[in-house]
Amino acid sequence: MLNNFFFHIRPAKIQAEALRFRLTYGLGGAAALMVSLQLFTGLLLNFAYEPVPVQAYLSVQHISSDLLLGPLIRNLHHWTGHFLVIVLWLHLLRVFFSNAYFSPRCRTWYSGLFLLLLVLMANFTGYLLPWDQLAFWAVTIAASMLSYIPVIGSPLQTLILGGSEVSGATLHVFYSFHTMLLPTMFLIAMSYHFWRIRKSGGVLLEKKSSRKMLPVVPDLLVRECAFMAVVSCFLMLFAMSFDAPLTGMANPVMTPETVKAPWYFLWLQELLLHMQPVLAMCVPLAFALFLLLLPLWGRKTARSPRAVQLLMLGFLLVITGLTFTGFFFRGSGMQLVLPW
Ligand code: HEM
Repeated sequence: MLNNFFFHIRPAKIQAEALRFRLTYGLGGAAALMVSLQLFTGLLLNFAYEPVPVQAYLSVQHISSDLLLGPLIRNLHHWTGHFLVIVLWLHLLRVFFSNAYFSPRCRTWYSGLFLLLLVLMANFTGYLLPWDQLAFWAVTIAASMLSYIPVIGSPLQTLILGGSEVSGATLHVFYSFHTMLLPTMFLIAMSYHFWRIRKSGGVLLEKKSSRKMLPVVPDLLVRECAFMAVVSCFLMLFAMSFDAPLTGMANPVMTPETVKAPWYFLWLQELLLHMQPVLAMCVPLAFALFLLLLPLWGRKTARSPRAVQLLMLGFLLVITGLTFTGFFFRGSGMQLVLPW
Protein backbone atom coordinates (compact mmCIF):
# COMPACT_ATOMS: atom_id res chain seq x y z
CA MET A 1 0.00 0.00 0.00
CA LEU A 2 2.85 2.34 0.95
CA ASN A 3 4.47 1.52 -2.38
CA ASN A 4 1.25 2.34 -4.22
CA PHE A 5 0.94 5.70 -2.49
CA PHE A 6 4.59 6.55 -3.12
CA PHE A 7 4.34 5.89 -6.85
CA HIS A 8 1.09 7.83 -7.03
CA ILE A 9 2.88 11.06 -6.23
CA ARG A 10 6.16 9.99 -7.87
CA PRO A 11 7.04 8.53 -11.28
CA ALA A 12 9.18 5.37 -11.34
CA LYS A 13 11.99 7.24 -13.15
CA ILE A 14 13.06 10.86 -13.30
CA GLN A 15 15.61 12.85 -15.27
CA ALA A 16 19.06 12.90 -13.67
CA GLU A 17 18.98 16.72 -13.78
CA ALA A 18 15.98 16.75 -11.39
CA LEU A 19 18.19 15.37 -8.61
CA ARG A 20 20.40 18.46 -8.59
CA PHE A 21 20.10 20.06 -5.14
CA ARG A 22 20.52 23.59 -6.45
CA LEU A 23 17.42 23.21 -8.57
CA THR A 24 15.10 23.41 -5.54
CA TYR A 25 17.44 23.69 -2.51
CA GLY A 26 15.13 21.06 -1.01
CA LEU A 27 12.84 23.84 0.24
CA GLY A 28 9.52 22.22 -0.74
CA GLY A 29 10.64 18.91 0.79
CA ALA A 30 11.75 20.68 3.97
CA ALA A 31 8.35 22.40 4.17
CA ALA A 32 6.55 19.05 3.77
CA LEU A 33 8.68 17.50 6.51
CA MET A 34 8.05 20.46 8.81
CA VAL A 35 4.27 20.39 8.27
CA SER A 36 4.26 16.65 9.11
CA LEU A 37 6.33 17.35 12.23
CA GLN A 38 3.87 20.06 13.25
CA LEU A 39 0.92 17.69 12.86
CA PHE A 40 2.66 15.02 14.93
CA THR A 41 3.93 17.25 17.77
CA GLY A 42 0.61 19.14 17.81
CA LEU A 43 -1.24 15.85 18.27
CA LEU A 44 0.97 15.00 21.25
CA LEU A 45 0.60 18.45 22.85
CA ASN A 46 -3.17 18.20 22.52
CA PHE A 47 -3.21 15.32 25.05
CA ALA A 48 -2.23 17.74 27.82
CA TYR A 49 -3.54 21.12 26.59
CA GLU A 50 -6.80 22.63 27.90
CA PRO A 51 -8.37 25.35 25.70
CA VAL A 52 -9.95 27.58 28.38
CA PRO A 53 -8.44 30.73 29.91
CA VAL A 54 -6.25 30.17 32.97
CA GLN A 55 -6.27 26.36 32.46
CA ALA A 56 -4.65 26.93 29.05
CA TYR A 57 -1.74 28.76 30.68
CA LEU A 58 -1.43 26.23 33.51
CA SER A 59 -1.50 23.29 31.10
CA VAL A 60 1.29 24.81 28.98
CA GLN A 61 3.29 25.41 32.16
CA HIS A 62 2.68 21.77 33.11
CA ILE A 63 3.85 20.58 29.66
CA SER A 64 6.98 22.76 29.88
CA SER A 65 8.03 21.64 33.33
CA ASP A 66 6.48 18.34 34.49
CA LEU A 67 5.78 16.10 31.51
CA LEU A 68 8.30 13.59 30.17
CA LEU A 69 9.70 15.08 26.91
CA GLY A 70 7.06 17.83 27.25
CA PRO A 71 9.55 20.74 26.90
CA LEU A 72 11.22 19.13 23.87
CA ILE A 73 7.91 18.52 22.10
CA ARG A 74 6.65 22.04 22.85
CA ASN A 75 9.95 23.62 21.75
CA LEU A 76 9.95 21.57 18.53
CA HIS A 77 6.36 22.60 17.75
CA HIS A 78 7.07 26.25 18.52
CA TRP A 79 10.32 26.69 16.60
CA THR A 80 9.32 24.53 13.62
CA GLY A 81 6.28 26.80 13.18
CA HIS A 82 8.55 29.84 12.92
CA PHE A 83 11.09 28.17 10.62
CA LEU A 84 8.25 26.98 8.39
CA VAL A 85 7.27 30.59 7.64
CA ILE A 86 10.88 31.39 6.59
CA VAL A 87 11.27 28.19 4.53
CA LEU A 88 7.99 28.85 2.70
CA TRP A 89 8.93 32.39 1.73
CA LEU A 90 12.28 31.06 0.44
CA HIS A 91 10.45 28.30 -1.49
CA LEU A 92 8.13 30.92 -3.03
CA LEU A 93 11.14 33.03 -4.07
CA ARG A 94 12.94 30.00 -5.51
CA VAL A 95 9.87 29.18 -7.59
CA PHE A 96 9.53 32.81 -8.66
CA PHE A 97 13.16 33.28 -9.71
CA SER A 98 13.20 29.99 -11.64
CA ASN A 99 10.06 31.09 -13.54
CA ALA A 100 8.32 27.88 -12.41
CA TYR A 101 4.87 29.37 -11.88
CA PHE A 102 3.62 29.72 -15.46
CA SER A 103 1.19 27.26 -17.08
CA PRO A 104 1.10 24.25 -16.56
CA ARG A 105 2.37 25.08 -13.05
CA CYS A 106 0.05 27.98 -12.22
CA ARG A 107 -2.34 25.77 -10.24
CA THR A 108 0.65 24.55 -8.24
CA TRP A 109 1.46 28.21 -7.62
CA TYR A 110 -2.09 29.00 -6.46
CA SER A 111 -2.28 25.96 -4.20
CA GLY A 112 1.11 27.06 -2.82
CA LEU A 113 -0.24 30.53 -2.06
CA PHE A 114 -3.15 28.89 -0.26
CA LEU A 115 -0.70 26.77 1.75
CA LEU A 116 1.23 29.91 2.69
CA LEU A 117 -2.00 31.47 3.95
CA LEU A 118 -2.71 28.30 5.96
CA VAL A 119 0.78 28.40 7.51
CA LEU A 120 0.36 32.03 8.54
CA MET A 121 -3.07 31.26 9.98
CA ALA A 122 -1.76 28.19 11.82
CA ASN A 123 1.06 30.25 13.35
CA PHE A 124 -1.24 33.09 14.28
CA THR A 125 -3.96 30.91 15.87
CA GLY A 126 -1.29 28.89 17.71
CA TYR A 127 0.26 32.09 19.08
CA LEU A 128 -2.69 32.69 21.43
CA LEU A 129 -2.93 29.16 22.83
CA PRO A 130 -0.34 29.51 25.70
CA TRP A 131 -2.57 32.34 27.03
CA ASP A 132 0.37 34.35 28.39
CA GLN A 133 0.85 38.13 28.28
CA LEU A 134 3.01 37.96 25.14
CA ALA A 135 0.38 35.93 23.25
CA PHE A 136 -2.62 37.86 24.49
CA TRP A 137 -1.31 41.30 23.54
CA ALA A 138 0.38 40.25 20.30
CA VAL A 139 -2.92 38.77 19.11
CA THR A 140 -4.80 41.85 20.34
CA ILE A 141 -2.58 44.14 18.26
CA ALA A 142 -2.56 41.88 15.19
CA ALA A 143 -6.36 41.51 15.27
CA SER A 144 -6.80 45.26 15.66
CA MET A 145 -4.88 45.72 12.39
CA LEU A 146 -7.67 43.84 10.62
CA SER A 147 -10.14 46.60 11.42
CA TYR A 148 -8.25 48.92 9.03
CA ILE A 149 -9.21 46.82 6.00
CA PRO A 150 -11.93 48.85 4.28
CA VAL A 151 -15.54 47.53 4.46
CA ILE A 152 -14.91 43.94 5.65
CA GLY A 153 -12.27 44.76 8.30
CA SER A 154 -14.47 45.28 11.38
CA PRO A 155 -16.92 42.38 10.81
CA LEU A 156 -13.95 40.13 10.05
CA GLN A 157 -12.27 41.15 13.29
CA THR A 158 -15.44 40.44 15.32
CA LEU A 159 -15.82 37.07 13.61
CA ILE A 160 -12.24 36.02 14.29
CA LEU A 161 -12.20 37.22 17.89
CA GLY A 162 -15.63 35.75 18.63
CA GLY A 163 -16.57 39.20 20.02
CA SER A 164 -15.13 42.69 20.23
CA GLU A 165 -11.93 41.78 22.11
CA VAL A 166 -9.65 38.84 22.88
CA SER A 167 -11.45 36.56 25.39
CA GLY A 168 -12.23 32.93 26.21
CA ALA A 169 -14.39 32.83 23.07
CA THR A 170 -11.35 33.88 20.98
CA LEU A 171 -9.29 31.11 22.55
CA HIS A 172 -12.01 28.65 21.62
CA VAL A 173 -12.23 29.90 18.01
CA PHE A 174 -8.42 29.86 17.63
CA TYR A 175 -8.15 26.40 19.18
CA SER A 176 -10.78 24.96 16.82
CA PHE A 177 -9.03 26.49 13.80
CA HIS A 178 -5.58 25.43 14.98
CA THR A 179 -6.32 21.84 15.88
CA MET A 180 -9.16 20.84 13.56
CA LEU A 181 -9.92 23.01 10.55
CA LEU A 182 -6.38 24.01 9.54
CA PRO A 183 -4.76 20.54 9.86
CA THR A 184 -7.54 19.06 7.71
CA MET A 185 -7.09 21.80 5.12
CA PHE A 186 -3.32 21.23 5.17
CA LEU A 187 -3.74 17.58 4.29
CA ILE A 188 -6.09 18.38 1.41
CA ALA A 189 -4.09 21.34 0.04
CA MET A 190 -0.75 19.54 0.31
CA SER A 191 -2.10 16.46 -1.48
CA TYR A 192 -3.40 18.73 -4.25
CA HIS A 193 -0.03 20.58 -4.43
CA PHE A 194 1.90 17.31 -4.84
CA TRP A 195 -0.58 15.95 -7.36
CA ARG A 196 -0.22 19.15 -9.44
CA ILE A 197 3.59 18.87 -9.34
CA ARG A 198 3.34 15.32 -10.68
CA LYS A 199 0.68 16.32 -13.25
CA SER A 200 2.84 19.13 -14.64
CA GLY A 201 5.77 16.79 -15.23
CA GLY A 202 7.74 17.31 -11.99
CA VAL A 203 10.08 20.15 -11.18
CA LEU A 204 10.83 22.59 -14.00
CA LEU A 205 14.16 21.76 -15.68
CA GLU A 206 16.39 23.85 -17.88
CA LYS A 207 15.64 23.33 -21.60
CA LYS A 208 19.17 22.18 -22.35
CA SER A 209 19.28 19.50 -19.62
CA SER A 210 20.31 15.98 -20.71
CA ARG A 211 17.61 13.32 -21.00
CA LYS A 212 19.38 10.71 -18.84
CA MET A 213 16.79 8.88 -16.67
CA LEU A 214 17.38 7.43 -13.19
CA PRO A 215 15.14 5.27 -10.95
CA VAL A 216 13.37 7.21 -8.17
CA VAL A 217 14.11 4.32 -5.79
CA PRO A 218 16.86 4.43 -4.68
CA ASP A 219 18.39 7.54 -6.35
CA LEU A 220 15.87 10.17 -5.25
CA LEU A 221 14.67 8.39 -2.11
CA VAL A 222 18.15 8.13 -0.58
CA ARG A 223 18.83 11.83 -1.22
CA GLU A 224 15.48 12.84 0.26
CA CYS A 225 16.01 10.71 3.37
CA ALA A 226 19.50 12.17 3.89
CA PHE A 227 18.18 15.72 3.51
CA MET A 228 15.28 15.05 5.89
CA ALA A 229 17.74 13.67 8.46
CA VAL A 230 19.78 16.91 8.24
CA VAL A 231 16.69 19.15 8.62
CA SER A 232 15.35 17.01 11.50
CA CYS A 233 18.73 17.14 13.31
CA PHE A 234 18.87 20.91 12.93
CA LEU A 235 15.34 21.36 14.33
CA MET A 236 16.01 18.93 17.17
CA LEU A 237 19.25 20.68 18.19
CA PHE A 238 17.53 24.06 18.04
CA ALA A 239 14.62 22.80 20.17
CA MET A 240 17.05 21.32 22.69
CA SER A 241 18.99 24.59 22.93
CA PHE A 242 16.25 27.24 23.03
CA ASP A 243 13.07 27.17 25.12
CA ALA A 244 9.79 28.41 23.63
CA PRO A 245 8.83 31.60 25.52
CA LEU A 246 6.18 31.62 28.25
CA THR A 247 5.68 34.96 30.01
CA GLY A 248 3.22 35.71 32.86
CA MET A 249 -0.42 34.67 32.58
CA ALA A 250 -2.59 36.83 30.26
CA ASN A 251 -3.98 39.85 32.07
CA PRO A 252 -6.52 41.83 29.98
CA VAL A 253 -6.32 44.89 32.26
CA MET A 254 -2.52 45.20 32.27
CA THR A 255 -1.22 46.39 28.89
CA PRO A 256 2.57 45.85 28.59
CA GLU A 257 4.64 48.91 27.69
CA THR A 258 5.66 47.44 24.34
CA VAL A 259 3.23 45.36 22.31
CA LYS A 260 4.57 43.85 19.11
CA ALA A 261 2.65 41.74 16.61
CA PRO A 262 4.08 38.25 15.81
CA TRP A 263 7.29 38.81 13.77
CA TYR A 264 5.76 37.70 10.44
CA PHE A 265 3.13 40.47 10.80
CA LEU A 266 5.59 43.07 12.16
CA TRP A 267 5.97 44.72 8.74
CA LEU A 268 2.23 45.45 8.77
CA GLN A 269 2.47 46.96 12.26
CA GLU A 270 5.42 49.08 11.09
CA LEU A 271 3.45 50.27 8.05
CA LEU A 272 0.63 51.35 10.38
CA LEU A 273 3.11 53.29 12.50
CA HIS A 274 4.42 55.15 9.44
CA MET A 275 1.35 55.67 7.28
CA GLN A 276 -2.30 56.61 7.43
CA PRO A 277 -4.06 53.25 8.26
CA VAL A 278 -6.23 52.83 5.15
CA LEU A 279 -3.26 53.73 2.93
CA ALA A 280 -1.02 51.35 4.89
CA MET A 281 -3.45 48.48 4.29
CA CYS A 282 -3.23 49.07 0.52
CA VAL A 283 0.39 47.78 0.56
CA PRO A 284 -0.37 44.18 1.71
CA LEU A 285 -3.45 44.12 -0.52
CA ALA A 286 -1.34 45.22 -3.51
CA PHE A 287 1.26 42.55 -2.67
CA ALA A 288 -1.44 39.85 -2.42
CA LEU A 289 -2.88 40.96 -5.77
CA PHE A 290 0.63 40.97 -7.29
CA LEU A 291 1.20 37.34 -6.17
CA LEU A 292 -2.22 36.29 -7.49
CA LEU A 293 -1.75 37.91 -10.90
CA LEU A 294 1.88 36.81 -11.36
CA PRO A 295 1.17 33.79 -13.64
CA LEU A 296 -0.59 36.16 -16.09
CA TRP A 297 2.38 38.44 -16.71
CA GLY A 298 4.92 37.14 -19.21
CA ARG A 299 2.96 33.96 -19.86
CA LYS A 300 3.75 34.02 -23.61
CA THR A 301 7.48 33.69 -22.98
CA ALA A 302 7.01 31.82 -19.66
CA ARG A 303 9.53 34.23 -18.12
CA SER A 304 8.76 37.00 -15.68
CA PRO A 305 9.41 40.39 -17.34
CA ARG A 306 12.16 42.57 -15.87
CA ALA A 307 9.60 45.01 -14.41
CA VAL A 308 7.87 42.19 -12.54
CA GLN A 309 11.20 40.96 -11.13
CA LEU A 310 12.03 44.48 -9.97
CA LEU A 311 8.59 44.83 -8.39
CA MET A 312 9.11 41.57 -6.49
CA LEU A 313 12.53 42.77 -5.31
CA GLY A 314 10.94 46.08 -4.25
CA PHE A 315 8.25 44.35 -2.19
CA LEU A 316 10.86 42.06 -0.70
CA LEU A 317 13.12 44.93 0.35
CA VAL A 318 10.25 46.87 1.93
CA ILE A 319 8.87 43.84 3.81
CA THR A 320 12.29 42.68 5.06
CA GLY A 321 13.35 46.22 5.97
CA LEU A 322 10.16 46.88 7.94
CA THR A 323 10.33 43.48 9.67
CA PHE A 324 13.93 44.13 10.78
CA THR A 325 13.01 47.63 11.96
CA GLY A 326 10.09 46.29 14.02
CA PHE A 327 12.12 43.43 15.44
CA PHE A 328 15.43 45.08 16.28
CA PHE A 329 14.86 48.83 16.30
CA ARG A 330 11.67 49.21 18.37
CA GLY A 331 12.17 49.56 22.09
CA SER A 332 10.01 50.48 25.05
CA GLY A 333 6.70 52.12 24.02
CA MET A 334 7.53 51.23 20.36
CA GLN A 335 10.11 54.06 20.26
CA LEU A 336 12.81 53.76 17.60
CA VAL A 337 16.04 52.70 19.34
CA LEU A 338 19.44 51.28 18.38
CA PRO A 339 19.72 47.57 19.26
CA TRP A 340 23.33 47.93 20.47
C1 HEM B 1 3.26 23.71 3.10
C2 HEM B 1 3.61 24.34 2.00
C3 HEM B 1 4.31 23.77 0.79
C4 HEM B 1 4.84 22.52 0.58
C5 HEM B 1 4.87 21.35 1.54
C6 HEM B 1 5.38 22.51 -0.76
C7 HEM B 1 6.04 21.44 -1.34
C8 HEM B 1 6.60 21.46 -2.61
C9 HEM B 1 7.50 20.45 -3.14
C10 HEM B 1 8.00 19.22 -2.38
C11 HEM B 1 7.83 20.82 -4.41
C12 HEM B 1 8.79 20.09 -5.37
C13 HEM B 1 10.19 20.69 -5.48
C14 HEM B 1 10.69 21.73 -4.54
O1 HEM B 1 11.14 21.37 -3.45
O2 HEM B 1 10.65 22.92 -4.92
C15 HEM B 1 7.09 22.04 -4.72
C16 HEM B 1 7.09 22.68 -5.94
C17 HEM B 1 6.36 23.82 -6.23
N1 HEM B 1 5.77 24.65 -5.30
FE1 HEM B 1 5.48 24.19 -3.35
N2 HEM B 1 5.15 23.74 -1.35
C18 HEM B 1 4.52 24.54 -0.43
C19 HEM B 1 4.17 25.87 -0.61
C20 HEM B 1 4.34 26.58 -1.80
C21 HEM B 1 4.16 28.01 -1.97
C22 HEM B 1 3.92 29.00 -0.84
C23 HEM B 1 4.29 28.27 -3.31
C24 HEM B 1 4.21 29.60 -4.01
C25 HEM B 1 3.21 30.38 -3.95
C26 HEM B 1 4.55 27.02 -3.99
C27 HEM B 1 4.66 26.84 -5.35
C28 HEM B 1 5.23 25.73 -5.96
C29 HEM B 1 5.42 25.56 -7.38
C30 HEM B 1 4.93 26.51 -8.49
C31 HEM B 1 6.13 24.37 -7.56
C32 HEM B 1 6.62 23.78 -8.88
C33 HEM B 1 8.03 24.28 -9.06
C34 HEM B 1 8.79 23.68 -10.21
O3 HEM B 1 8.20 23.00 -11.03
O4 HEM B 1 10.01 23.95 -10.28
N3 HEM B 1 4.60 26.02 -3.04
N4 HEM B 1 6.39 22.41 -3.61
